[in-house]
Amino acid sequence: MKAVKIGLLGLGTVGTGVISVLKRNADEIARRAGSEITVVAAAVRDLSKPRDIDSSGIRITDDPMSVVNDPEIDIVVELIGGDGVALDGVNKALENGKHVVTANKALIALHGNEIFKTARSKGLVVAFESAVAGGIPIIKSIREGLSANRIEWLAGIINGTSNYILTQMTEGGRNFDDVLAEAQALGYAEADPAFDIEGTDAAHKLTILASIAFGISLQFDKVYQEGITNISSEDITYAQKFGYRIKHLGLARRTDRGIELRVHPTLIPEQKLIANVNDVMNAVLVQGDAVGPTLYYGAGAGSEPTASSVVADLVDVVRTITTDPENRVPHLAFQPDTLSDLAILPIEEIDTAYYLRMGVINRPGVLAAITEIFGNKGISIETISQKENGDGKEDGEDKVSIILLTHNTKEGHLCDAIKQIEQLDTVYGSVTRLRVETLS
Ligand code: HSE
Repeated sequence: MKAVKIGLLGLGTVGTGVISVLKRNADEIARRAGSEITVVAAAVRDLSKPRDIDSSGIRITDDPMSVVNDPEIDIVVELIGGDGVALDGVNKALENGKHVVTANKALIALHGNEIFKTARSKGLVVAFESAVAGGIPIIKSIREGLSANRIEWLAGIINGTSNYILTQMTEGGRNFDDVLAEAQALGYAEADPAFDIEGTDAAHKLTILASIAFGISLQFDKVYQEGITNISSEDITYAQKFGYRIKHLGLARRTDRGIELRVHPTLIPEQKLIANVNDVMNAVLVQGDAVGPTLYYGAGAGSEPTASSVVADLVDVVRTITTDPENRVPHLAFQPDTLSDLAILPIEEIDTAYYLRMGVINRPGVLAAITEIFGNKGISIETISQKENGDGKEDGEDKVSIILLTHNTKEGHLCDAIKQIEQLDTVYGSVTRLRVETLS
């Protein structure tokens, strides 16, 4: 088979990794794919920017459309990010009959349903392993390795930047802004780091994972999303005291009433393997009915780890070029005409346990009033603890923090209880609420 020619859209952290890996492992990659894979063109934003790669034989241009319109190119690799130029480039590549490999989770989460429809109608492949959890082959594992299973739930640390920040805050006592700046310098963070720390990046990735796990269409707008910006070192310390670590988790769970789809900071028991996944590393725990719990761990970002998934997709696409388009692995794991319309539950309907921290006046009867509210809402308290040292004075009276862990309850009931507690004149400020998952 003649060499397969690749055009890159974007030559940043991941693009340069793709070129390095393809060059370094060229022989083994060709033995696996059955053909040489050669990058012949790359579109960049700034032609004058110095690049630390051997770009011999590669046409460098600042016009992405000249790459997707180049008749010599068989596969377009989209590494621009976002859904502006990237979406136009991918659509045009498909229109021109080219297969696509993309690392762009926003593109797939927001536009994947239409993109896959177009690709199917033209017998083309759109591969996106690197869009979720960088170098971990999680898409392939769920879509192919676990295809015998009914997936019950999955939970993942799927944003390396958030994990890096929480780890450094937990273990190094470092401050949020410093650690974020470092993650940006290391090339882990998104172009707009708000996507990392507000949970949007994780929500994009969870949208994709849930779709291939449950056989549902991509529904980013239904994901409940909270980031890590409100996590204080105080809560990290209390969580540790109770035997938990705070991790930013994406969680998708099938229930009798529909699917829970949520990303938020979560207390996880410290003895769980996933609670010990630190720094920029990612991990995804998948529970299948036949296999039981399975855990996938690896680098969630970075140049060559992400390139590892991009190049694996290239090998897959090259292998499928000669196969019947009707008999390929479906983009979203399930045959497109069998996708189910299972409801995604609103956040008020989810069922989980909670960590609560509140400031109260240290006076008899305060706890009784709080626990009465929980009792009336049918919420059971697992643990209650009062900070040993007070928090100073409020109107001449001693203030103190109370930490509470609840058993599982509906989020709607918990929110009602919090509203009532915040109205008590013995409670000051707002109640801090974090979800707790045992992942068992
Ligand atoms: N900004 C992402 C992260 C990069 O921190 O995980 C990989 O998608």
